[in-house]
Amino acid sequence: MYKILKAEKLADKIYLMDVEAPRIARYCEPGQFIISKIDDKGERIPLTICDYDREKGTITIVFQIVGASTERMAELQAGDVFEDFTGPLGCESEFVHEDLEELKNQKILFVAGGVGAAPVYPQVKWMREHGIDVDVIVGSKTKDMLILEEEMRAAAGNLYVTTDDGSYVRKGMVTDVIKDLVQNQGKKYDRCVAIGPMIMMKFVCLMTKELGIPTIVSMNPIMVDGTGMCGACRLTVGDEVKFACVDGPEFDGHLVNFDEAMKRQQMYRTEEGRAILKLRE
Ligand code: FES
Repeated sequence: MYKILKAEKLADKIYLMDVEAPRIARYCEPGQFIISKIDDKGERIPLTICDYDREKGTITIVFQIVGASTERMAELQAGDVFEDFTGPLGCESEFVHEDLEELKNQKILFVAGGVGAAPVYPQVKWMREHGIDVDVIVGSKTKDMLILEEEMRAAAGNLYVTTDDGSYVRKGMVTDVIKDLVQNQGKKYDRCVAIGPMIMMKFVCLMTKELGIPTIVSMNPIMVDGTGMCGACRLTVGDEVKFACVDGPEFDGHLVNFDEAMKRQQMYRTEEGRAILKLRE
């Protein structure tokens, strides 16, 4: 059993939990994920690790209600438990294994959209802990939907916030900010890491391809069971077929076939809708 030490609502339908999981906290690295399961009847939910505290032995997860299982999960409180909480799973972010001195000479841009701020945060924090200042763009639909702003501000070299409706800081998409930084402010980036809704990652990649900035994306949103068995997370990367849960979740965004991945993501919509209705009966 894995005890929930903290449960907090961050925004509409977005929740944060600190879970006691010392073994995962000891070995996990940025980019990896866990699978949570409430009880025997619960669905397996793959979630990218948002933060970890090796000393306290805790893992922080952030999730959005997207179906019946996440709706059930949102009802859990501090003191409740997950029957299963497995990890760390998936590959670490590529920079974890790179030469630190070379990394320090690079200019890296992180782009987070919506709940994508959660998987971006441990990467930005890792950079700060290793003495690397990075630029971070965080976009959300509205001010109320913005999450982890303070944490991100503490970890980022420069933080640029944007909201779709202009209710906070500036109005526009994350791609508008990238354009502004590169074309108007003359910033140069050696690489970009973009994590958020699939459509956002697609458009960031179209833009960074044009600007010649290599870009990594996380394909966590299409994962279902997270074990390489269900096949739901199959995607095309260049001319290769990959599974997000075992080969990723991070891939070269300029090679990902986003249109195919987005179609795959829609596949379970009807079943999800039925499951939610059943839960509310
Ligand atoms: Fe099922 Fe990857 S999530 S195979």
